[in-house]
Amino acid sequence: MAKTIKDTLIGTLVYGKEVLEDIRITRKVSPDKMSLGKEPGTRIAQLHAKELSLVVSAIFDTGKNAKTLRLSSKTGYLPPFEAGQYINIFTEIEGVRTSRPYSISSSPRQRAYYDITVARTEGGFVSDYLLDKVKVGDEFSANGPAGVFRFQPVFHKKHSVFLAGGSGITPFMSMLREILEAHLDRQVTMLYGCRSVKAALFHEELSAYAKEFPNFSYHLVVSDEGDSWTGEKGFIDGKLISKLVSDINEATYYICGPQVMNDFCKKELEAMGIPEKRIRREMFGARRDIEQEDGWPKELSGQEVFKLTVGDKVIEAKANESILTSLERSGVRVNVCCRSGECSLCRVKLISGRVFLSKGIMLRMADEKFGYIHSCKAYPISDIEIGL
Ligand SMILES: Cc1cc2nc3c(=O)[nH]c(=O)nc-3n(C[C@H](O)[C@H](O)[C@H](O)COP(=O)(O)OP(=O)(O)OC[C@H]3O[C@@H](n4cnc5c(N)ncnc54)[C@H](O)[C@@H]3O)c2cc1C
Ligand code: FES
Repeated sequence: MAKTIKDTLIGTLVYGKEVLEDIRITRKVSPDKMSLGKEPGTRIAQLHAKELSLVVSAIFDTGKNAKTLRLSSKTGYLPPFEAGQYINIFTEIEGVRTSRPYSISSSPRQRAYYDITVARTEGGFVSDYLLDKVKVGDEFSANGPAGVFRFQPVFHKKHSVFLAGGSGITPFMSMLREILEAHLDRQVTMLYGCRSVKAALFHEELSAYAKEFPNFSYHLVVSDEGDSWTGEKGFIDGKLISKLVSDINEATYYICGPQVMNDFCKKELEAMGIPEKRIRREMFGARRDIEQEDGWPKELSGQEVFKLTVGDKVIEAKANESILTSLERSGVRVNVCCRSGECSLCRVKLISGRVFLSKGIMLRMADEKFGYIHSCKAYPISDIEIGL
């Protein structure tokens, strides 16, 4: 009963009464009671769905430049997920079929819908479309929940330290909601780096949670704000982590944010003596300024256009765009899910030519041996030929 009151108070503050009613009904009609096929094959296919048919059932503003899209299933069933996982949404924009992964920001404790929270990206493509064009009732297909950036209370330390940057807050919302809703015996310290208070997503909700729950502490770390901001300023670094986390050696660290922040925080944690096994990281996609990555050929500006041959097709491929993007632009379909070099779905065989492989690719040994590359994080640096 106490839990319902807490949920209600915080929920009312954030979402308003209508949505709370929605949540109440969802919890009453647990998705687990929905009819799953009796055959093991059908059951497995439902639980590990390759493709989901989703419909936008509500849209909420989440801060200045972000929206939360509530996605329900057209079939009435959504597979379970672990807090921290993402779905990969397919879109058709200006005649180009492409996709982008989005972490599920809602709690895994209810499955009538998945919330995804989309932040505007400067020079963005799909994010602009999702923020400006999509309306309630629009339909999408998506890959089922995936990803290894998961909150696993059984294996991880009792103290979880969440290091988030910008839109990288989203998987933490799911983890936090699960921990607080389920009253898990877990301590959570969140450090959230943003340019300004206005740019911070879920700031009011997180502040309300921190007031309400003694096992959750929240620190917004602002880099650009003037003197008016009296909280933490600057960037998340080892000094700040040591100041805010009392038992640094007794915690599991999770990092999610822009690649630069991600790499920086990992180095800071390592310098503090935190072993790699206690650092969990989410790659939020391929980096946008690939020309800046270490090892990029100095003689190339990134604007060069090369010939990409695939079967009997020859298409144009910009040096600073992934091979996957160039293929999608010209209507060639490739299997895809993470767009971060992790899942292997987008692999293609490099027949000839040279490519730049971005950091963070998890290529299987056999793939490497036989010349396969992950097209989502491979960039042409000469004319190339690939096989699908
Ligand atoms: C696991 C994971 C979880 C994520 N979760 C979230 C989340 O919760 N919230 C969030 O906001 N973001 C999240 N992201 C990032 C998200 O997937 C997108 O990268 C982000 O929304 C920006 O997408 P975008 O298309 O606007 O910009 P980009 O992904 O940077 O795409 C712009 C690029 O699109 C290509 N492009 C431009 N025009 C065209 C065209 N006409 N045809 C084809 N290609 C074109 C160009 O290469 C251009 O550089 C996540 C990423 C990952 C990997
Ligand atoms: S889409 Fe997952 S590795 Fe490229």
